[in-house]
Amino acid sequence: MFARVKPLDAILATAEKKSLHRSLGAFQLTMLGVGAVIGTGIFVLTAEAAQKAGPGMMLSFIIAGVVCAVAALCYAEMSSMVPVSGSAYTYSYAVMGELMAWMVGWALVLEYAVAAGAVAVGWSGYFVGLLRQFFGLELSHALTAGPIDGGLFNMPAFIISLFVTWLLVIGTRESAFVNAILVTIKIAALTLFVVLALPVMNSHNFEPFAPLGFGGVSAAAASIFFAYVGFDAVSTAAEETKNPQRNMPIGLIGSLTICTIFYLLVAAGVIGSVGAQPLLDANGVGISPGTKELTAACAAQAHEVVVCSKEALAWTLREIGWTQIGNLVGLAAGLALPSVILMMMFGQTRIFFVMSRDGLLPERLSKVHPKYHTPHVVTIITGVFVAFFAALFPVGALADISNSGTLFAFAMVAVAVMVLRKTDPNRVRPFRTPAVAVVAPLAIVGCAYLFFSLSLYTLELFFGWAIVGLFVYFLYSRHHSHVGRGIVEVHEDDPETPPQPVPPLPGVHTPGGSDA
Ligand code: ALA
Repeated sequence: MFARVKPLDAILATAEKKSLHRSLGAFQLTMLGVGAVIGTGIFVLTAEAAQKAGPGMMLSFIIAGVVCAVAALCYAEMSSMVPVSGSAYTYSYAVMGELMAWMVGWALVLEYAVAAGAVAVGWSGYFVGLLRQFFGLELSHALTAGPIDGGLFNMPAFIISLFVTWLLVIGTRESAFVNAILVTIKIAALTLFVVLALPVMNSHNFEPFAPLGFGGVSAAAASIFFAYVGFDAVSTAAEETKNPQRNMPIGLIGSLTICTIFYLLVAAGVIGSVGAQPLLDANGVGISPGTKELTAACAAQAHEVVVCSKEALAWTLREIGWTQIGNLVGLAAGLALPSVILMMMFGQTRIFFVMSRDGLLPERLSKVHPKYHTPHVVTIITGVFVAFFAALFPVGALADISNSGTLFAFAMVAVAVMVLRKTDPNRVRPFRTPAVAVVAPLAIVGCAYLFFSLSLYTLELFFGWAIVGLFVYFLYSRHHSHVGRGIVEVHEDDPETPPQPVPPLPGVHTPGGSDA
């Protein structure tokens, strides 16, 4: 079954034909990364990380950042060698065969679709806060949270997901201009937060540093990994990059470093200014975030604490006396997060599209809309699922589930890099992972460590999802696979191919899409 490999040369033949204009420099790549990465992770999940690790979440941010950095270096080698759509799924098809590719593609559903749901729930928290602050409107808990954390149906998260789906169906892409504005808004909001929160820091708030031990720090690292997801937007821009050997690592490591520094400063600001000790149950055990128990424990607090906030950064600023600025930071999150949902959903539809075109999913799914030229069928199906995930599940649970898929896919990419160095050492690699003998194993071990630090519930869901995936593969995909049926076709330059999930930048001609 490992013999069903999609020949790399066939895949690459198209990439050569595409001959994209190499126009991205190190700075643009870095901005692309920062734009794709900053989102719900820092704006919302900081509260969850605090509930899991207390002030030790600072360590969690560093651990997750380092794992991302080594994974990113491997990802970049693959995406510069195989610069075609489908990312980790396509790489795995070429290197490890169809079954692994299927499993990676199946896991990427968790990465993208579930992540889109998580960001939608994160957005909902800020939206509800803004309604309260600006209009004095108080939406009921039942309509702003799913059943797991004591509500019924998260209506704002549901609606924003459907709205983004509609945008995608009519072919909306984030333009270079909008991307630049949103990056500026996000950086300005985080800078403002740091500048106002750090001066009122109280060092006593850092003690005890890790009230729930290193286990808590690891669990928070596994969750906060979500805050770094999205940097693959940089890797997938490999073929549009000038001198990728130099600029790729600068773009990847540069954007991850900028994000890590911001995240650490923001975390220090939250901890130092308002304290970040977790709420414990009667036995002194940390209560799991996103549960009815935590909702009840929060309701019982005489004074609200950050671990209970669904808009942690805005809440912190209001708490230290900067009410209006807190509202502005909330507004920044409210404006910027939908673009993260858009990018994630875009990524998902693209993966489904490629998988269905390979015959592994029904080909009806890859139908392209005659007027909008978007894969509308798969977009609508994805959007409806995302909307229901968002309406029913808490943000942390969704982020964790998404992380499980991402970590699996990243580990597989690192394996693929090592395998290909052995089996095909002479192939041209526009970007080579530095010190691959150390970096790739480190990426695999790091991903495995974070994966197994996720909650048992998340791992059960991951393996349940994988088993469903195996059934689908053996009952359907294996018999319909084009490679299995001896059809090796490459469609990268089909005129109706929808554009790549990479936000366009000035002067970049994206395949199948217009210059934005
Ligand atoms: N890194 C992205 C976020 O935090 C997914 O929203």
